[in-house]
Formats: sequence, structure tokens, C-alpha cells
Amino acid sequence: MTILASEIRQKYLDFFKSKDHAIIPSSPLVPENDPSVLFNTAGMQPLVPYLLGEPHPLGKRLADVQKCVRTGDIDDVGDDTHCTFFEMLGNWSLGDYFKDESIKMSWEFLTSKDWLALDPEMISVTVFEWDENAPRDEDSANIWKSIGMPEDRIAYLPAEDNWWAAGPTGPCGPDTEIFYWMGEGKPPRGSNKGTDSKMWMEIWNNVFMQYNRVDANTLVNLPAQCVDTGMGIERCTVTLNKMKSVYETDLFAPVLIKIREIVGEENYNERWARIIADHLRAATHMISDGVVPKNIDQGYILRRLIRRAIREAYKMGYEQPFTTQIASIYIEQFWGIYESVKNNAEKIRTELSIEEGKFSKTLKDGVREFDKIVNGFKIAFERSGQQVTQISGGKAFTLFDTYGFPLEMTVELAKEQWLTVDVDGFDIAFEKHQELSRTASVGKFKGGLADDGAETTALHSACHLMLAGLRKVLGEGVHQAGSNITAERLRFDFTHPEKMTSEQIKAVEDYVNEAIDSGLVVTMTNMDKTEAKNSGVEWAFWEKYPDIVKVYAMVGANGVIYSRELCGGPHVENSKDLWRFKIQKEESSSAWVRRIKAVLMK
Ligand code: ALA
Repeated sequence: MTILASEIRQKYLDFFKSKDHAIIPSSPLVPENDPSVLFNTAGMQPLVPYLLGEPHPLGKRLADVQKCVRTGDIDDVGDDTHCTFFEMLGNWSLGDYFKDESIKMSWEFLTSKDWLALDPEMISVTVFEWDENAPRDEDSANIWKSIGMPEDRIAYLPAEDNWWAAGPTGPCGPDTEIFYWMGEGKPPRGSNKGTDSKMWMEIWNNVFMQYNRVDANTLVNLPAQCVDTGMGIERCTVTLNKMKSVYETDLFAPVLIKIREIVGEENYNERWARIIADHLRAATHMISDGVVPKNIDQGYILRRLIRRAIREAYKMGYEQPFTTQIASIYIEQFWGIYESVKNNAEKIRTELSIEEGKFSKTLKDGVREFDKIVNGFKIAFERSGQQVTQISGGKAFTLFDTYGFPLEMTVELAKEQWLTVDVDGFDIAFEKHQELSRTASVGKFKGGLADDGAETTALHSACHLMLAGLRKVLGEGVHQAGSNITAERLRFDFTHPEKMTSEQIKAVEDYVNEAIDSGLVVTMTNMDKTEAKNSGVEWAFWEKYPDIVKVYAMVGANGVIYSRELCGGPHVENSKDLWRFKIQKEESSSAWVRRIKAVLMK
């Protein structure tokens, strides 16, 4: 009998709720105030401040389904397992239970008749072997044995397999991983991940977060021992049903049927259809979380996914608009699961259709241009015997600039013709034309956590003061519409219909600098969300917050409140840590939205 992904998702949440976990909503795909990653790449990412010791307003036991995007393996999409977007089921202990209860709960969820009811004999596990950072994890092995795991189903593996960290710095620790047997019948005696790697598929990872990597040479203890677990819903569904690919699951199957219908049986190509299904699923969620197609950062990835999907359809001979039909299936599927999808259904379709319109217009001409380049190579070879195998950066840039081909698409087209592209040359041409370097955003594809540098935190606190200043100077109509902070500067979008005057800009700067000079204490209070809203606390993206929220305030010795805002942190302790605040630029971002770039100067 097939186990549906939707069933696993629901059971998982019900189970952890029954174990006193607070179920928290998925954070948006785009992390706030973490400039080192473009998208959340693991369930724990939005929870890093809490793993590092900040108290979570909903307590010490949490569970959720987190939307994630990983683009590091984008070229493998189309095979049986790789997806750019995926959902990660996770449960956390923030200094509450540790190895014993964590392992026992996982076991109960997987094998109890009341939950997934898997056959225990089909399961094996791994534990951390040992290295210079941490001892052999006999504790976990003993707990597994105590609940009936035979010794020959436990493999001790090195850090490469059984140590988990989201990035070069941040919380980390040894893990125990749970695997399901993929072979025929029951696994033979002695078979485990160590002896029989290919036959065992990972379904769950329980990380025992007890360290914080501060830098390459320094590992310190976290304030409390924590647990971070992750179960990718796609892989879990495939594995438990012994399916061959994720595209057979209820998450994708209806979409592949639709693509087959759209392009026609005779034109259908399974791999290309899978790429469309994957990319438009990721695009649907990205747009639902506020990303729009652009040539930088998240918007560039989104654009690349949509355009690649369109090209795959084109390869199957289909040149009509189709993306919204596919998105509609996903919108229906995720309607009751993510508020973001439900609330942005029309926006998803509109953005897709605009992008599809833009790209379809130039795709045909671009392909013709590309063919011309390749033909030029052939003619040159016939005439002079000189073989050119690389497309110049300039030509790749023309394909990008005039025909809208993301660089990666040109590389892909080139590969099909056994050619390469001068990517460095492209970057040079690109930088000449844009003030913002594309490579900077490409460098961020794979993820890694921000080391919450002092600069970033200070700029984040400055954002709060600035918003309060903007509201004072320009009026209560001002709200945050987006923000992006790097260690060097803050970029802040806010609602306001017209350009600010230089007097207004100066008044906001003065407001912030006065607050800095006053040495305000930064406080954090947990509040009921509705109560916070009613009491006039400033907020952005209200719906993403849980019922209990954190309110940060900056208050002067005389009791004057300079800023009071709903936020996840982190912040400085005192406003005097902000040095001197300066607005460098005020410009239009889109209709009714202005954008400020500002810095702190020592
Ligand atoms: N954070 C762990 C993972 O992503 C659970 O595998």
C-alpha cells in the first residue's frame, strides 16, 4: 500500500504534537538578516539563534515542516532523487531532551503501529565513529541496542558521514542516521550502511548539537545540549514505498501526467519533463515567499529556473505558455499547507506568466543566434582547419543581455555541442554593464551560515531605529517592505509614495544618531501576537510569526521608547554599539516603495 507524502507530513506533526512539541510555521524560503545564504537550506537554519542559546518563545520542544532550496546540485535535477526545492520535517530540543528521548521518539514514530508501522528489520543506523573533536558515540549505540537494534545493524562511521554542520561556522555535532533497506526481501545478517552502502537509503538524521564552531580551529560547547533532526519528505516517501524516483510520489506524479498531456505523448521526454516539474515547483514556492525574477541574487535563481523549464518544454516542441497550468497543480497541492502559497496564488501565476512572456519572445531568436555561433565555428574549421571549442564571454553576454539566456543555459547548450563557454570573460562583460556583480550572488548558491558578525547585528539594530525615525518623519504610513543586510551596509525597502527631501533624510539620520548617543538599552519581551499587534508594535511580514512573538525595544533612561518592533533578532545590547549612522542613498524601489542604503561609520 502506498504511503503518501501528505500522510507522512501530517503524521509527523501529529506525532510530535503528542510528544509536547510546539508546531511552528515554516519560515519563508529567504532567510532574513543572513546575507551569506540566498535560501534556507535546512530546517534548522531559521532556528540557529535558539540553538545558540536564545530562548524560543514557544519553548524547548519544537517541530515543523520547513521549505528549503538547495541549488548546489541543480545539474543533477532530472535524475531520480535530486530536487531544488524540498520540504524538511524536523523536531528540535533546545536544551530539553537529548540522545535518549530523541532516538526513542524517532523509533516509535517509524515502527509503532499507530504511526508509520515500518518493519524494524528493514531499518539500520549509523553513529559517529570518533575524531579529534568528539569521542565515539557509544551513548547513541547503546540506546539503539536498548530498544532492540541488533549490533550488526549499527555502523560506526567517520565525521564525513556522521557529523553535521550547516556551514563553516555555527552549531554542529555528531549525528545518528537512520536508513531503510532498498533491496528485495529482508536485509541479510551483517548488512548495514558500513558494509553495504548502496542498499541502504537514509531517511532521517538526528543531530546532537552540542558544539559551536567559531572558526576553523575553535570548537566551543553550546550553552545547552540540543537536538536537530531532519527528514526530507521527498526522499522518505520514495524510500518507504520502494519507488524508483521522487516523480512517482504524490508530490510530483500529477504534474508529470499534466506535462505529458500538454506536450503530447509523442514529444514527451521523461528527463526534460522532470526538470520542468522540479523547477516550477521551486519557482512556485519562491514567488510565494516574495522572490520575483531578476538578474541578481534570489531573483536570478528564480529566473534561471523558470527559463530553464520553458526551454525544456521548447525542446519537446512545445512553444505555447504553459507554466501557470503547472503552478496551479502545485498551488492546489500546497494550499492547505503553506499560508504563503494560499495567500499568493494569483501572484504566483502572474509572475510566471510575465516571465514566460518575456522569455518566450526572445527564446527562438536566441537559439537561432546560438546556432549561428556554432555554425561559425564549423565554417571556420572547414576553411582554415582551426578548431574553436569555446564560446567567448562577449557572445555569452550578448545571449544573456539581448536574448535573456542565463549564463548557465548557454553553458548547457554549449555542452550539448561539446563546446565550453568563457565564463570569466562573461563575468568581465557583465560587470562592465552592471553595477552589481553576478558572481557575488553565484558564490552564495551553496549555502553556509552567516557568522552573525558584529557589523551585521549592529546594522540590523540600526534598521529598527531607522524605521522608527522614518515613521516619525514621514508618518505612520511607512512600513518595512524588505531588507537585506551585509556586513558593510543595510538596504531597506519601505512603503512611501514619493522621494524623500534632503531635510527628511537628515531628520531621520538625526533621530538615529540621537538614539545612538543616548545609549539605549535593547530589551526583548515575549508577547502574545495579537496583543502585540493591538498595542501598536511595528512589524513586517506579520503572518510568518508564531502566536507568541518576540518584541525588541530600545528605551532611553528617561523611559522614552525609540523603537519597538516585532523581530527574531539578533540585536546589539546597547545602541551605543552603533557608532554613527549615515544614509547614503534614497531611491525608488518599485511603485509606492522606496529604498534606502545606509552605513554605520566608526
Ligand atoms: N540539520 C540536519 C540535516 O539537515 C538534521 O540533515
